[in-house]
Amino acid sequence: MADKKLKVAVIGVGGISSVHIKGYLALPDQVELYALCDINPKTLKAKGEKYGITRLYDDHKKMLAELPEIDIVSVCTWNSAHAVCTIDALNAGKHVICEKPMAMNVEQAVAMKEAADRNGKLLMIGFVRRFGNDCAIAKDFIDNGKLGDIYYAKASYLRRNGAPGGWFGDIARSGGGPMIDLGVHVIDLVRYLMGRPQPVSVYGATFNKLGDFSNIKGKTGAYKSETTGEHVFNVEDLACALIRFDNGAVLNIDASFTLHTQTPVDGVELFGTKAGVRIGSELKIATEANGYLVDQNFDVKTGLDFAGLFENEIRHFVECVTKGIPCRAPAEDGVVLMKILCAVYESARTGRDVTIA
Ligand SMILES: NC(=O)c1ccc[n+]([C@@H]2O[C@H](COP(=O)([O-])OP(=O)(O)OC[C@H]3O[C@@H](n4cnc5c(N)ncnc54)[C@H](O)[C@@H]3O)[C@@H](O)[C@H]2O)c1
Repeated sequence: MADKKLKVAVIGVGGISSVHIKGYLALPDQVELYALCDINPKTLKAKGEKYGITRLYDDHKKMLAELPEIDIVSVCTWNSAHAVCTIDALNAGKHVICEKPMAMNVEQAVAMKEAADRNGKLLMIGFVRRFGNDCAIAKDFIDNGKLGDIYYAKASYLRRNGAPGGWFGDIARSGGGPMIDLGVHVIDLVRYLMGRPQPVSVYGATFNKLGDFSNIKGKTGAYKSETTGEHVFNVEDLACALIRFDNGAVLNIDASFTLHTQTPVDGVELFGTKAGVRIGSELKIATEANGYLVDQNFDVKTGLDFAGLFENEIRHFVECVTKGIPCRAPAEDGVVLMKILCAVYESARTGRDVTIA
């Protein structure tokens, strides 16, 4: 346990900040929720009152200058502010966890990692799916060689009517649609489970045929941004891609906010020479035994359990800082993901295969 409590500041206190804060509040002996920052005064005031925090700032630079005692920072802004808030916090000597996607583009992501390296501080990326119960079980099987060599994977994060609203549809603040927002989770999960191979080429396509379904009657149950006001939708509504890795493996990915599908899905499948694993509402293994094709089921709950998921991520971030343990979601993996995501968009724009150096 740390001999003093870490003081945490949260920059961007909309929807997802609440699960970061919940994670910190679950560690009362190690962390003190110290300051909040948001450019939206209404949001800032409401969150200050909710958590009983009086150190409230509408400018992260001012907060960092006035509160040098801050130790760690969560960056939970919309995507276009990730780079500036993260780099300023690292330059001020703070350890940072930044939400996914790491940034808007590769240049920003590289600059963020360089700021962490230059200042000798931790920069962790919010690849929360690495902390899921389903990921842990699949990794256990993979690490024990039960799948053999993994050479192919499929990842789908398809919502039928799930545009999150707010800034998510505004390319100037999001950098893209479902590929950068949802695809990032499942691409990272596959890459993590494959042992973090490097991408070498990407062929992708994007569409904006249905928009955000603002014309559709009835509510969507999907996650919503807390940012209100005028919404635009100038990102893709569907994206798909083939990603080739340096170990020869290929990932086939699709992600949508809106799609005329009867099978919305959030799942990945990895196929190896000995077995395949499906990670979805439950985990299943397809294999062969004694000359038969066999399906293996589990006797424990294997579907992604959101209870405790973000707490696991935040606890790990705090342990990285206090105990110096290796970070499970380091900045270098954020940079790799940005290379993949940007290559999907470049390929969609040019109609060509994009090589990743
Ligand atoms: N890990 C996950 O599963 C998950 C889920 C949802 C969102 N996210 C990520 O979390 C981030 C935030 O998403 P959200 O859903 O909370 O959005 P949101 O719209 O609910 O909140 C974002 C907040 O950031 C504030 N903000 C923007 N720029 C700022 C700046 N420069 N300084 C201070 N505050 C600023 C906005 O005013 C807003 O209150 C995004 O990067 C998103 O991709 C991750």
